[in-house]
Amino acid sequence: MLRGGKVGLRARHEDDIPILRAELYDDVVNYSRSQSRPWRPITPGSKDSQLVVDDKEEGHVPFSVVELDGGTLVGTAVLWGIDNHNRSAHIGLGLLPSCRGKGYGTDVVAVLCHYGFVVRGLQRLQIETLADNYAMLRAAERNGFVREGVLRSSAWVLGEFLDEVLLGLLAQDWKPNTQG
Ligand SMILES: CC(C)(COP(=O)(O)OP(=O)(O)OC[C@H]1O[C@@H](n2cnc3c(N)ncnc32)[C@H](O)[C@@H]1OP(=O)(O)O)[C@@H](O)C(=O)NCCC(=O)NCCS
Repeated sequence: MLRGGKVGLRARHEDDIPILRAELYDDVVNYSRSQSRPWRPITPGSKDSQLVVDDKEEGHVPFSVVELDGGTLVGTAVLWGIDNHNRSAHIGLGLLPSCRGKGYGTDVVAVLCHYGFVVRGLQRLQIETLADNYAMLRAAERNGFVREGVLRSSAWVLGEFLDEVLLGLLAQDWKPNTQG
């Protein structure tokens, strides 16, 4: 397990799947705002790749996020689009509704940076998020990510096009353990 100050990132367990499905993936608004594809129902027990992890998929590393104190599941995190030639990847995360606004998101970004830069030896990490996702923007910026551009009308979200912000962090600019 990878440890931050408040949360740990561990492998996906079978028991996590119904909770993540009910609280994150079946919330159509949350799903539509955080995934760039249309929501559709997932059949219980199916091997849908959004929840069931394929360990052989090298460029996509999903984690379940747990509280360090007690081990309760609080969400998901992923390093995706890993490009070992350009040494870059994207990060993504989603917390259960009752677990937001407690500093966990900022901590998850810190742990994903450690995984990307230290464990995987990457040079650049990138985040794309909706321009009105203030919690995500702040969690990224607290870890040193800088806004590199606005992708105008790049996301179709429940009936309208919204802007996305692209943020990047380079290994040499990353300061571990200083989220301030
Ligand atoms: C986005 C998300 C991961 C952020 O994690 P979080 O644990 O809620 O965020 P934190 O508690 O670490 O807060 C980060 C910062 O955002 C601020 N913040 C939190 N919720 C906020 C809100 N609703 N509006 C404005 N600012 C907010 C916090 O005050 C904090 O700022 P500070 O460091 O200056 O105090 C989480 O809210 C979430 O899972 N949302 C739904 C899924 C999603 O949007 N995923 C990202 C898709 S790209």
